[in-house]
Amino acid sequence: MTVLVTGGAGYIGSHICVELLEQGYQVIVADSLINSSEEAIERVEKITGKRIFFYQANLCHKQDVAEIFDEEDIDAVIHVAGHRSIAQSVIDPLEYYYNDIAGTLVLCNAMRKHNVRKMIFSSSAMVYGDLEVDDMPLREKSPCGKVSSPYGRIKVALEQMMRDIHHADPEWNIVLLRYFNAIGAHPSGLIGDYPKMTPNNLVPYIGEVAVGRQKSVGIFGDDYPTPDGTGIRDYIHVFDVAKGHVAALKLMEQEPAVRTYNLGTGHGYSVFDVIHTYEKVCGVPIPYEIRQKRPGDIAVLYADPSKAERELGWKAEKTLEEMCADSYRWKSNSNGYKF
Ligand code: UD1
Repeated sequence: MTVLVTGGAGYIGSHICVELLEQGYQVIVADSLINSSEEAIERVEKITGKRIFFYQANLCHKQDVAEIFDEEDIDAVIHVAGHRSIAQSVIDPLEYYYNDIAGTLVLCNAMRKHNVRKMIFSSSAMVYGDLEVDDMPLREKSPCGKVSSPYGRIKVALEQMMRDIHHADPEWNIVLLRYFNAIGAHPSGLIGDYPKMTPNNLVPYIGEVAVGRQKSVGIFGDDYPTPDGTGIRDYIHVFDVAKGHVAALKLMEQEPAVRTYNLGTGHGYSVFDVIHTYEKVCGVPIPYEIRQKRPGDIAVLYADPSKAERELGWKAEKTLEEMCADSYRWKSNSNGYKF
């Protein structure tokens, strides 16, 4: 089976490629390299000893996408490509809407033209919006609250678009995977999170402090309605997220439908929990300072992952300690990628 992974040179995409190759799938990657490096593809090939067919392609460019579908025989698409900074989506919504919506439209059109109707879409826990602590854990059927960022609203819109596509043509077989907070790295230390800009996510930033590239972590708000006042998230190892995609591909052997799953662990950890676990696992002190809340941020978010366990036969296995240890190995052993 041949799978096209859009965004396959990026953080989550590269880990998905490792898992696909190890499970015997043929992998084609389409990536614009706007926020990733082709070196990640070489590292995936090194880890697995298998080859990836790589296209440098911007999904908003019809010609780039047409070329891939004209040349390759694709059975399914895992669509990970997209902008990823919630804060940046607040600052530059037009760029975010254009890139993610236009890119997905072009991709879906090419799939329809070439009769490829299996799609796994990277959605996000952000679609649940700003719900109350009492609403946790989030189930797939949980109401979507007030979505607090353009990033989240784009995911909501694209999920809805996928449902409409299936409604009009029930042959489309679609899995919407709502990622919670993917962190960690491949245990080899060869691939990991390496955005071109200084990271603005918690764990990559803690890693920068741990290896001495930044002085201290800014904690974005300590007066949220949580036990220690800092934001709570469901951190999940990127390796477990990758495995969820292979489970979803297997599920698509069943009759076409639109199926939605949370990919989370079911445990919520605060910013302090993560800082202290990182310090413990790595033996490096992590200085921090309290800063202003970040626009678009919400207080608490963690999953009920039981539907994925029941229907996909998938369950996150790695602990927060393992996530922090793998993140630190990646940060300390590598100089990242060349851009
Ligand atoms: C992340 C992902 C998003 C995904 C979502 C799912 C990115 C950019 N965002 O968002 O794609 O859909 O999870 O839940 O990957 N924090 C600090 N200091 C920092 C950075 C963060 O205190 O320097 C706090 C935040 O306020 C928040 C928590 O740490 O409470 C996690 O933040 P972050 O790692 O940026 O992830 P999310 O914003 O939750």
